[in-house]
Amino acid sequence: MSRSERYKAAKELLGRYGQGHLLDLYDRLGDDEQDGLLDAVDRLDFSRIPGWVQDYVTNSKPAALPEEFGPADYYPATSPDSEQMRAKYDQARKLGAELLAGGKVAAFVVAGGQGTRLGFDGPKGNFPISPVRNKTLFQIFGETILAAGRKYGADLPWYVMTSPLNYVATVEIFKSNDYYGLDESNVFIFQQGTLPNFAFDGKILMASAGTIAASPDGHGGSLKALYDSGATADMKSRGIEYISYFQVDNPLVSVVDELFIGLSAMDEAEMSSRALIKAHSKEKVGNFCLVDGRVTVIEYSDLPDEQAEKRSPDGSLVFELGSIAIHVISRAFVEKLNADGFALPIHRAVKKIAHVDADGTAVKPEEPNGVKLETFVFDALPLADKSIILQTIRSEEFAPVKNATGDDSPEVTRRMMVDRSAAWLKAAGIEVPTKADGSPDCVIEIAPGFAICAGDVKAKADQIAPIKSGETVYLE
Ligand code: UD1
Repeated sequence: MSRSERYKAAKELLGRYGQGHLLDLYDRLGDDEQDGLLDAVDRLDFSRIPGWVQDYVTNSKPAALPEEFGPADYYPATSPDSEQMRAKYDQARKLGAELLAGGKVAAFVVAGGQGTRLGFDGPKGNFPISPVRNKTLFQIFGETILAAGRKYGADLPWYVMTSPLNYVATVEIFKSNDYYGLDESNVFIFQQGTLPNFAFDGKILMASAGTIAASPDGHGGSLKALYDSGATADMKSRGIEYISYFQVDNPLVSVVDELFIGLSAMDEAEMSSRALIKAHSKEKVGNFCLVDGRVTVIEYSDLPDEQAEKRSPDGSLVFELGSIAIHVISRAFVEKLNADGFALPIHRAVKKIAHVDADGTAVKPEEPNGVKLETFVFDALPLADKSIILQTIRSEEFAPVKNATGDDSPEVTRRMMVDRSAAWLKAAGIEVPTKADGSPDCVIEIAPGFAICAGDVKAKADQIAPIKSGETVYLE
């Protein structure tokens, strides 16, 4: 089709859906830009856009709370009571280690977010966080993956999801850091999809004369992007069966966890999750529930107070399990979803969206002027035929960096990193000087090359010199 034919077809299509303004500035564009805009129009999914506008833009459909739901069951974090369960955990750990040694597992970080809350310029994975060496999040994950590969004696490929907004910058960071010591062929960086941004009247916004305003489609987009990018095909060719999913903001994550992977595999779970016992009833994490026999996350904002406050006879919260965005996903599940053509529910966020107006003048709104849409990965849980939850201990595995100050700030994360290192040392029988409040009176960083779990520290306890009060210790 010639360019003018494409233009005519696009104009007709957009006109039909009340989006004709997208071509208002077309005549001002050069040939390449015109082609780019026509390509972008081709990619708009008009089988869904009118529905989105109706449900999430011009109206805001309240999230439908299931009529009946209860708390989800879970595996406890440590030492289950019964002999039988202990045996199952041992067996699961063994199986997890075997799967890792057999090269059946991949690490997968979602790093396509914009990290606006932290106020850090550039991909969040490049944020320096470790308490002694100031290593970045990506470096910590990279070194952990390298160490895990060595520990299990198999390649542990790393899949990194970026967005079109931070892909180039992310690739540059990996290159300039020499892939953190990993073999470049074992690092697969790809882009997630985007969804258009809308003004409150349902019109799609233009970011510039030739570009449609769009934002990353949320971490839920990973399930499609893994497939569309060829990542799952690459995994298949390597014999990978399990995808260990984590977020870029949490340096404490156990990037590949023997027990979690092993339990998922033993139970033939298609998608599994790690969970925390919530700190209080309204902690801002999703709640693991059971709806029609399927694990489902109900957002903290959607769980009515009455349910959130409900207590069991032992005083614990009925809905006590919070989602921390750590999953094991089977590759076959991702393939099945995509083969069947799935769609996750849409979530709306009202935002200030920079754009150009009908004359091409740039507008930087002071107040929210439109809606961004995204999908959440945990909404795929009810699509899984089998899904398990393994509890984790906050101090062991969850210290996300989200805000510049206060809760979930770098200061808190660094403190938690030191605390966990101290706990690992103590568990190995090493004395750690403490302050009056019990916190470590030293700064400790354990390089992943030295240890990626408490057990590794124990095995190397004889290599650790006594620690003095106020000392800065880096174990490598
Ligand atoms: C998320 C979860 C919350 C969980 C918390 C744990 C949601 C709605 N909430 O909150 O239940 O308790 O993490 O820390 O998800 N990302 C992409 N592409 C996108 C959007 C995000 O890759 O389009 C990635 C980010 O880079 C990041 C992760 O997803 O690694 C989380 O994104 P973020 O928006 O920061 O999640 P939270 O709202 O903090």
